[in-house]
Amino acid sequence: MKWSKPHFEEPAAGILQDLNTHQTQRIQQLKSADAVAFEDRLRHTLALTNYQYLDLLDRARQQFLWQPDPGGHLVDVGSQNFYYAPVLHAFFQPQSLTGIEVEGYRIYQDGYSRFDYATAYIRGLSNTQYRVMDFCEFDEPVDGITCFYPFLEPKALVRWRLPLKVFRPELMAYTMARVLRPKGFVFMVNRGEAEGAIAKDLMANTNLRLVGQWTCSDPLTEWNGPPIISLWKKDKIFT
Ligand SMILES: C[S@@+](CC[C@H](N)C(=O)[O-])C[C@H]1O[C@@H](n2cnc3c(N)ncnc32)[C@H](O)[C@@H]1O
Repeated sequence: MKWSKPHFEEPAAGILQDLNTHQTQRIQQLKSADAVAFEDRLRHTLALTNYQYLDLLDRARQQFLWQPDPGGHLVDVGSQNFYYAPVLHAFFQPQSLTGIEVEGYRIYQDGYSRFDYATAYIRGLSNTQYRVMDFCEFDEPVDGITCFYPFLEPKALVRWRLPLKVFRPELMAYTMARVLRPKGFVFMVNRGEAEGAIAKDLMANTNLRLVGQWTCSDPLTEWNGPPIISLWKKDKIFT
């Protein structure tokens, strides 16, 4: 069911409080290198997560000697309410940015839907949209795909109260490979070594080449298990 209430807005953090030394130093580095200030538009936890994702993207840049070209068409898979659209927009400077979420009309306790939140988070970001759909049905050519913490095991899906019928990781991997233009990339983050290994196996069945997989042992914020970052590319030879 489509559900939307108008005028969702959230106050921005302004200043990030209660950071540890590692967070303070790293965020300062990222702010100077990428000219961002997520706390000017997002509340504290979301601003911090945007820095967390920027940290991971920046690590990938270093680990994999990766310099994504600005200006391409970028799609993010499983975007939740797209609270991290600002970091994707700042890092990739894409020609277009599309967040895709199958459960985009899920309603929060305050009566607003993910769609309402997403509308607020992408406000002011040029050529950015949020689409409520199953990524497996997506059919437009893109230059880059990002995917943060996809569901790769059925138990994760059940925990998030999603029907098992949307658990189609093989089809998701196949769709990524299908819509990606030659020279395009897939950047994925998984939680912990076991999920990282599943992601690697899954993508090995596509025509994408694994550039590298790397465990981030000192992330900005600790969730369950270290983030595993992976990068795949579509070589021209596969066109
Ligand atoms: C663990 S959450 C990660 C959310 C977000 N990427 C983040 O980093 O906070 C996985 C998300 O993928 C969405 N999802 C699962 N299967 C999908 C599909 N086939 N197409 C689009 N979204 C999907 C789920 O509804 C959920 O919001």
